[in-house]
Amino acid sequence: MAFTLPPLPYAYDALEPAIDKETMTIHHGKHHQAYVDKLNDAVAADASLADHSIEDLLAGISKLPKAVRNNGGGHWNHSLFWELLAPAGQGGEPSAELAAAIDADLGGMEKFQADFNAAGAAQFGSGWAWLIVQDGKLKVTSTPNQDNPLMDVADEQGAVVLGADVWEHAYYLKYQNRRPDYLKAFWGIVNWNKANELYAAAKG
Ligand SMILES: [Fe+2]
Repeated sequence: MAFTLPPLPYAYDALEPAIDKETMTIHHGKHHQAYVDKLNDAVAADASLADHSIEDLLAGISKLPKAVRNNGGGHWNHSLFWELLAPAGQGGEPSAELAAAIDADLGGMEKFQADFNAAGAAQFGSGWAWLIVQDGKLKVTSTPNQDNPLMDVADEQGAVVLGADVWEHAYYLKYQNRRPDYLKAFWGIVNWNKANELYAAAKG
């Protein structure tokens, strides 16, 4: 079974003005599509990789080819990222459970957002900022390139609750070098309903 590009769950211009239509069109239709295509090429080249879920591949990524790490990570990260965004006003609010955990584990929403943005801004080159559940507690972390906290090579492993793509391709057309401005705008289009669902599953 080949991996496929999931459709965006909203229109390409639905996240404006936080993320512009052209960025979303290229990001989804070109960048994410390329990860899918190259992942399929890498899996097709090695019979032992056939019929594994993407999560299975990521969990054992240290033993797999670099092309699977880069493109499998790229496919999984972006598939989730689209779902973690929603048009402004449509993403709901953190659940009582998630909000309580943010208070208890991360010092409250304001400090969490500042720490998350700092993790994203400090990630050298390309990568991702993450909110994960690790040993039952929330933690803010980041990964380089298309790595993620599901990978056995990640410094901080856990279940993802929220993630932000900090590759230049995610923001450069609108924000140029101003990654912190993009991360600030990110909070206005977070799909908390999806984050709540992921948090509940991670704790379940
Ligand atoms: Fe991206």
